[in-house]
Amino acid sequence: MIKHDVVVIGGGLAGMRAAVEAAEAGADVAIVSKMHPVRSHSGAAQGGINAALGNREEDSPAAHAFDTIKGSDYLADQDAAEAMCEDAPKQIIWLEHRGCIFSRLPDGRIAQRPFGGAGSPRTCYSADVTGLVILHTLWEQLERFGVKVYEEYFCTALAIEDGVGAGVVAYNMRNGELELITAKATIFATGGAGRMYLKTTNGYASTADGMGIAYKAGIPLMDMEFMQFHPTTLKENGVLMTEGARGEGGYLLNSEGERFMFKYAPNKGELASRDVVSRAEWTEILEGRGVNGCVLLDLRHLGREKILERLPQIRELALDATGLDAIETPIPILPGAHYTMGGIETNKWGDCRVPGVYADGEAACVSVHGANRLGGNSLLETIVFGARAAKHAVEYIKTAPDVKPSTRTLQAEKDRIHELLSRSSGTRAPQLRHAMNVTMSENTFIFRDEQGLTKAVDELTRIRKEFDAGVYVMDKSTTFNTDLVSTLETDFLIDASLSLAAGALNRRESRGAQSRTDFPERDDANWMKHTLAWRQDDGTPRLDYSRGVTITQFDPQVRTY
Ligand code: FUM
Repeated sequence: MIKHDVVVIGGGLAGMRAAVEAAEAGADVAIVSKMHPVRSHSGAAQGGINAALGNREEDSPAAHAFDTIKGSDYLADQDAAEAMCEDAPKQIIWLEHRGCIFSRLPDGRIAQRPFGGAGSPRTCYSADVTGLVILHTLWEQLERFGVKVYEEYFCTALAIEDGVGAGVVAYNMRNGELELITAKATIFATGGAGRMYLKTTNGYASTADGMGIAYKAGIPLMDMEFMQFHPTTLKENGVLMTEGARGEGGYLLNSEGERFMFKYAPNKGELASRDVVSRAEWTEILEGRGVNGCVLLDLRHLGREKILERLPQIRELALDATGLDAIETPIPILPGAHYTMGGIETNKWGDCRVPGVYADGEAACVSVHGANRLGGNSLLETIVFGARAAKHAVEYIKTAPDVKPSTRTLQAEKDRIHELLSRSSGTRAPQLRHAMNVTMSENTFIFRDEQGLTKAVDELTRIRKEFDAGVYVMDKSTTFNTDLVSTLETDFLIDASLSLAAGALNRRESRGAQSRTDFPERDDANWMKHTLAWRQDDGTPRLDYSRGVTITQFDPQVRTY
């Protein structure tokens, strides 16, 4: 049996930041990750990380909090958003002091670019590879503290003994062994669930693993109906074209060559919040002003030098996928699934409802993003709440009694996987995953209505049943059995999808990224509350609205940009 004080599940930014904080505080901490940490999806984050650094007189953590809360369509818990924005400048300096290479102003200060929904340019960046740069900075810190990384270990279950978290069971992908990793504190930092959709900016690893594990263990998922569709993803393959492109001055054009965003957001244009821009693009396409089913991102006027200095990666990515050079030609783009605003319910310290269990980053729902996240607040959330969850976990383990090794969870997982591998026929997981992707993309996309959402819930319930009745893993090998791992990932994605669709169907209003054509208005009288989804024995969610929204100083207002 493996034993540590703290075990972090996930090796992306949220996981590494938590692990470094715990290690710095002297805890024996390990990371369990299904891939090498620097290959995590965090490396795909491009445009930057928000913080009111004080470079501009008009900016402040309070202004940042206001923009975040307004962006959330007033569903964020305001105390949590304030805590994040207050901590942001300190965390940027923390990263800088550990060697993070941010782009600079000529006078040496950290440069900041405008991002959507922000009242001031406050997005710190490293060209358009910000996530990758921070990922490497944190990897160096892991090495510095000698944090143990269980790489190519796929976590399958959370162990709970006597009502407290007792670590996890993980599948060693190299030899097919299931192992118990006992810990007093477990932190889920497993990222989002973009792979619920056919097209997404998310890496193949973004399969709702932590959400699915916590949900099966009796911890609720919160606000899952709020899925962010990023306005600029490549038409060809869904790859992200950073918001930084619009922050640097890029235009969005329709088939008439019109910069259409000012019709929808007279003050902010292309730099309105993401839900607004995605809806505008989709409306242009639906009303016949698309260009071959998409709209165009035009960077030509920025000039070669600026594109190569600030946006070199997206130019390369677009060139590779489309053969078009953004220096000379507008790029065809579409809104695409990007970020899961919902996740494992936590408080502002990352605590879940089970003592000793924490979550942070995209896997968690604190909630700081509410119904719509602002660009640049995702990297920030990983750093701020990674540190906060670890701080709390370190305090917790000082007084928590030793946990009982959960051999029964280990045995239950061994039996479950053995049973799964002993089947000789059944439905294959890729078929079920594809059916899930199709119904999610058709019925839970930017515009939603009762008919489509009912279809999605029915279809996902059928998929859930078919999976449980006898999903079939063809590969029986013990070495890198990707068939098995992908089947387990599909299981998590089905749960996440079903809780998203059910929450969206039940929420009869439009707020942030949830846009119901049959209920087009925000309804504060009835829906200023979070959605909690609890997993029932048959795999369907039970919805509960007992958690209200914390309001500190910003009363809900009509949201315009
Ligand atoms: O557009 C982007 O660079 C993405 C940033 C984010 O999601 O925060």
